[in-house]
Amino acid sequence: MAEVIMQQPIVFTLPDETEQASRFAQAIDAKLGELELRQFPDGESYLRVLTEVSERPVIIFCNLNNPDTKTLRLLFLAATLRELGAASIGLIAPYLAYMRQDARFKSGECISSRPYADLISNAFDYLITVDPHLHRYHALEEIYTLPCDIVHAADAIGRWVCATIEKPLLIGPDQESEQWVRNVSKAAGAPYQILSKTRYGDRDVKVSLPDLEPFAQFTPVVLDDIISSGQTMLETLTHLRSSPLSRPCVIAIHALFDDIAWQALSEQAEVVSCETVRHPSNTITLMPELATATTAMINRLSNGTDTKPSPIG
Ligand code: R5P
Repeated sequence: MAEVIMQQPIVFTLPDETEQASRFAQAIDAKLGELELRQFPDGESYLRVLTEVSERPVIIFCNLNNPDTKTLRLLFLAATLRELGAASIGLIAPYLAYMRQDARFKSGECISSRPYADLISNAFDYLITVDPHLHRYHALEEIYTLPCDIVHAADAIGRWVCATIEKPLLIGPDQESEQWVRNVSKAAGAPYQILSKTRYGDRDVKVSLPDLEPFAQFTPVVLDDIISSGQTMLETLTHLRSSPLSRPCVIAIHALFDDIAWQALSEQAEVVSCETVRHPSNTITLMPELATATTAMINRLSNGTDTKPSPIG
């Protein structure tokens, strides 16, 4: 089969993500595309693509925290790039929004993960993200109908824990966290424990701790995929204070938390996060992993070995 010569990709991003997107572009040897983006006096968005994209593979690098503000602009950008003749349009969203809304708990509730997945699937040719919140869904393909790839943070976190924490004990605050905690504990060669959590409201959670007496000599490393209000972590830290363990370390893959939660958590623990959503706690980079996954996806698609899957019925 004749080898397909790849054009250099062009990476676009939305304001606020330029620094991360530039490093990503560098990591995959791509060029940064230019945009003009502003608001009309009435609040609607104006968007103009200033870089030639015809027949070029195009990537949009954009975290989907604060998705209600970002998504419309993202869809406008993807539609414009398509009209201007981009050869392909990929979305690299280190944080993928709305994955926690995966069930109807009260009648009439919107299971927003589904219409959100439809919007993204219809606008892009592929999606790469970091550890999406897969709880009641077991794979992105259950709701996303475009080629997807997931970058896992476990090895990078495991390496960081190994190099930084003396005698770590990994702790997951709830059942869902076991998938991440188990893999990090394997990568770090450290034991782990899982707590049980009940959520009563957006900012009201209760967790219960197992007997940690046998781990008295260990440093607790509490790991969750997302810290949002911070209540899950704060509640866990409250319990840990009454255990024999030393000052904990808290790790989030996706740091969605605000300044209030950040301050409350850092008073009680060392807080670090992966470099997905931009946050002062970002410590563990996943840029090499994102670059490898993106290059592999572009090659796969350009060799015709992957196509849009049909929606799962
Ligand atoms: C949900 O199950 C996630 O894994 C996190 O545990 C959750 O998003 C944390 O939320 P918060 O920081 O608001 O307690």
